[in-house]
Amino acid sequence: MTPALLELDEVSLSRGGRVVLDRVTLRVQAGQVTAIVGPSGAGKSSLLRCAVGLDRLDAGRVRVDGHDALELDPRVLRRRVALVAQHPVMLPGTVADNLAYALPAGAVDGEAARRSLERAGLDVSFASRVAGELSGGERARVAVARALTRDPVALLLDEPTAALDPARAAGVEALMRELAGLGLAVLVASHDVAIVRRSADAAVLLEAGRVTASGTAADVLDAWAGRPA
Ligand SMILES: Nc1ncnc2c1ncn2[C@@H]1O[C@H](COP(=O)(O)OP(=O)(O)OP(=O)(O)O)[C@@H](O)[C@H]1O
Ligand SMILES: [Mg+2]
Repeated sequence: MTPALLELDEVSLSRGGRVVLDRVTLRVQAGQVTAIVGPSGAGKSSLLRCAVGLDRLDAGRVRVDGHDALELDPRVLRRRVALVAQHPVMLPGTVADNLAYALPAGAVDGEAARRSLERAGLDVSFASRVAGELSGGERARVAVARALTRDPVALLLDEPTAALDPARAAGVEALMRELAGLGLAVLVASHDVAIVRRSADAAVLLEAGRVTASGTAADVLDAWAGRPA
């Protein structure tokens, strides 16, 4: 089996004295969409934050391309593993300003911005739009473009379709597949069972901070559906 691009090994995290993640092990392969499913409060967002180095682990290890995340410069880690939050905040100014913000100071490069807009399925004319005036679906794509500007090897998406109508959600679903097709490791936390079933190559079920099922998306969703409510 190809080594995973992103690996979480026995990751544990406590918040406010409560165990939020309990020895979570997860492998995310390049070129695949991996989904994290599970009930509200299970720890999906916390897991994504740990994977991108935003939360300090109590125990366990995160590896990116075989390197211990703790040994990577945090700026390098942020560039390689990019997180798109559930409600991405648009900064004042244009879409181009928002994309430049994601780049290291002095690295503002029109070409990089144009390329990430295209990869996120947006016309380059979006660069001059005022970010605060975009629709929910457009914002979702700009947030992906902003993450792609740093040219990550792994893209983490937290409920990317939650606020979108079915047509816009289908667009984000297609985008995840395209990005995996370009070789990125895509890790998505989602409540949307239909989208996970269609678009994920692999999945894990997280319940009360523990992985209780893992495998193909279909197997994991079936395991989840079989749980008592
Ligand atoms: N800063 C914090 N302080 C204390 N508890 C926290 C903190 N952040 C998260 N938690 C708790 O950790 C648990 C997991 O939260 P998390 O947001 O990761 O769940 P989730 O699976 O993403 O839920 P949802 O599906 O509602 O987005 C919850 O019980 C939450 O209350
Ligand atoms: Mg969440």
